[in-house]
Order: sequence, then structure tokens, then C-alpha cells
Amino acid sequence: MKVVRIREVWSGQIIDLRYEVLRAGLPRETAMFDHDRDPSTRHFAAYLPGESGKLKDLGKLVCCATFTLGDWRGFKSFALRGMATDPEYQGKGIGRQLLTRAEIELSQPSINMLWCKARKSAIGFYEKLGWATCSAEFEIPTAGPHIEMFKQLPRVQKCDWFARTTLGGNCSNWTHCEDCTIGMSECNACGTVEGLTSH
Ligand SMILES: CC(C)(COP(=O)(O)OP(=O)(O)OC[C@H]1O[C@@H](n2cnc3c(N)ncnc32)[C@H](O)[C@@H]1OP(=O)(O)O)[C@@H](O)C(=O)NCCC(=O)NCCS
Repeated sequence: MKVVRIREVWSGQIIDLRYEVLRAGLPRETAMFDHDRDPSTRHFAAYLPGESGKLKDLGKLVCCATFTLGDWRGFKSFALRGMATDPEYQGKGIGRQLLTRAEIELSQPSINMLWCKARKSAIGFYEKLGWATCSAEFEIPTAGPHIEMFKQLPRVQKCDWFARTTLGGNCSNWTHCEDCTIGMSECNACGTVEGLTSH
């Protein structure tokens, strides 16, 4: 499995990858989604580690996904869109790492569902990550056969430290340790590193 660094980003950082993987040959605007700039929309990106190996040093962008908040079949849900791994890095466990991490970050008491319009060719990927199909097959003219899929967001027990830093800390832009996910973190803005050795 390729080790990557998952970061929450803004849409401008991932549109090139989206375009290359999902919209090649179409006008570039098709890689920009309606709700990309909504405050409730969340974008995640996976980067290879940079040459220095330091937590803040990010290398090539290799995977991305976007989640837009809305109502789906009566559930307050996040819709997954723009799930894409650089072709050179597909099949190395990067999409799994990114989605697993996104689920942790997105988990909150009032929102308990993820859904997407999955390309038929990607159904197996989502099924491996615990998603289920829930519609008949339908065609999207620019992208071929699709099917709706969903997954219940896991209830994530976040440690006290996580709650303190993300909800009440002085820093606003925390990223987490790659090993324990919630036990140690570094602020992208000021470089402060904090953490617990166990939780
Ligand atoms: C689908 C996609 C996002 C998967 O990302 P990835 O980084 O290659 O996936 P991973 O390597 O993390 O795969 C996780 C598991 O799913 C499996 N898997 C990956 N893609 C699969 C596919 N298309 N069909 C069936 N299984 C798949 C992997 O074999 C792996 O299984 P394992 O854990 O048992 O080894 C990537 O292949 C991609 O960008 N494809 C083109 C664009 C696309 O179709 N996006 C989805 C639009 S809905």
C-alpha cells in the first residue's frame, strides 16, 4: 500500500486531477461542480510525501474527493462527487485511505449518510468500502452507465484532544498524524504540533 497524506483542501487544488481522470476530452468547466464553493462542501486530497519527509512537505497530488451537503431520500447526507485517483497510482490503496479518512472527518451526529452516483466500472471499489447499491442502472450522457450507492457514516469516537483542538483550539487548520489519525496533529497555519501518545 502506498503511504499518502490526506488533507482537506479547497476546490481549486483538485480540479486539474478531477479533469484529467473524470472529464478528459470535455470542456474544462465540466470539472467544476455547482456547490464547489459552498461553505458546507468538503474537499479531500491525498498527496505523496514530499522529499523532506516532514509532515508539512507534500508531494504530488494523487487522489481527490468532494462531499456536498444536502437532502437525499429524506436523510441529511453528504453526496460524494469527483472521486478520482491518478491512473498511475490506482489500485494501490489510496482511494480507500482517502475515503476512510473522509468518513472520520465528516462524521457528526446530525448527518449519517453518504451517497453517490457511481460509475458502473467503480461499483466494485465502493462495495469493498462498505457501500451498497440502491437504484436501477441509469445513463449519464457524458460519463456512461451509473448506479446510486450509499453508506451509513460510521459513528466515530473522537478523543477529548480532538474535540479541544478542532472545536475550541486557537489553530484553525489542523491535520492529523498519519499513523493514529486522531492522536497527534499539526496545524497547517502555524506549524504547531500537539498530540497525545495514546487515546
Ligand atoms: C475508482 C477509483 C477512485 C478507485 O481508487 P483507487 O485508489 O484505485 O482504489 P484502491 O486502490 O484504494 O482500491 C480499494 C479496493 O477496491 C478495489 N478496486 C479499486 N477500483 C476498483 C474497481 N474499479 N472495481 C472493483 N474493485 C476496485 C481495489 O482492488 C482494492 O481492493 P482490495 O482492498 O481488496 O485490495 C479509481 O480507480 C479511479 O479514479 N477510477 C477512475 C475514475 C472513477 O471511476 N471514479 C469513480 C467515479 S464514481
